[in-house]
Amino acid sequence: MISRRTLILPIDPNGPEPGGVRQAADVLRSGWLVAFPTETVYGLGANALDPDAVSRIFEAKGRPATNPLIVHVCDESMLSQVVADWPAVAAKLISRFWPGPLTLVLPKNPAIPDIVTGGGPTVAVRMPAHPVALALIRESRMPLAAPSANRSSELSPTTAEHVWKGLEGRIDLILDAGPTQSGIESTVLDLTTHPPTLLRPGPIGVAEIEARIGPIQRKRDTPRTGPLPSPGMLERHYAPNTPLELFADRAVLEERASALVASGQTVKKVLLGGIDHSASVMPTHHDQYAARLFAELHDLDSLWLNRILIEMPPETDDWLAVRDRLTRAATEGS
Ligand code: TXA
Ligand code: MG
Repeated sequence: MISRRTLILPIDPNGPEPGGVRQAADVLRSGWLVAFPTETVYGLGANALDPDAVSRIFEAKGRPATNPLIVHVCDESMLSQVVADWPAVAAKLISRFWPGPLTLVLPKNPAIPDIVTGGGPTVAVRMPAHPVALALIRESRMPLAAPSANRSSELSPTTAEHVWKGLEGRIDLILDAGPTQSGIESTVLDLTTHPPTLLRPGPIGVAEIEARIGPIQRKRDTPRTGPLPSPGMLERHYAPNTPLELFADRAVLEERASALVASGQTVKKVLLGGIDHSASVMPTHHDQYAARLFAELHDLDSLWLNRILIEMPPETDDWLAVRDRLTRAATEGS
């Protein structure tokens, strides 16, 4: 059993106080765990060069050792400590999208311990666009391995409170800089395949990437336009404890929701653009919807509802990342 005292330290998201950054960097240099904000979600950081420190991440999250971590860097000289080298296509993406929510999978530098990469020859790396994250990496003078700061397969955290809810007593420090901006995790692109492969859709869209480097391919189980893939094809992830169901047809919802309500159960409906006043009204723009998605799911999950019903967003590429998170959250666990 892990039992630690978890401290929360408020920090200015735009101009992080040097004292707070130094305190967090000291914790990291001692091999312990610090949750910190990025522009996507909160990350759970440890020294990426120290296998013992990284093993504490897996322990705190209950994460399977086979699932590799993203390494966070603050500049290109640190990038050269993490990857063996980077091709021209990586340089093109880096100059356009870093710092920012684009993670690149590249051949790993031997300095990166196997525990970070699940024993594999590649490493996922990104430069986060958040003043606190960048200051922390710079001050600790080491790359930080950081998955999202939640228990494995549960909802990702977009506030320090979400981190506390999932990891209190299991980690050492939480830097609280308020809610994160994009609200969903970075786009993950594998540059070791030809053409590059989209492993996880995210805030940087396929069209933006292709405009820069030409065609990319999508991983087979990534939901794309067309009918939903069968749930068995997807890993359950990003899931609330309350059963979550997606619906495409509002007429069906009205029928089923009234049946559920009639049998005494409580149902909350999250409608896109909101037509029902009892429902949470979600933004109609995909970026704003993504920014709110996990916070909304955390809130709904704390209401002890029998079921959460969410309208499936449009089947367009713009909504790919949101559909991916929703589909995984709605997948029944094994
Ligand atoms: O926005 C984000 O990316 C956040 C913040 C904290 O930076 N981090 C994050 O980490 O979402 P995590 O561990 O929750 O997700 C990392 C994803 C996983 O799907 C993992 O399988 C994939 O990246 N990944 C990591 N290393 C990989 C590798 N070498 N090859 C392929 N996929 C990899
Ligand atoms: Mg995660």
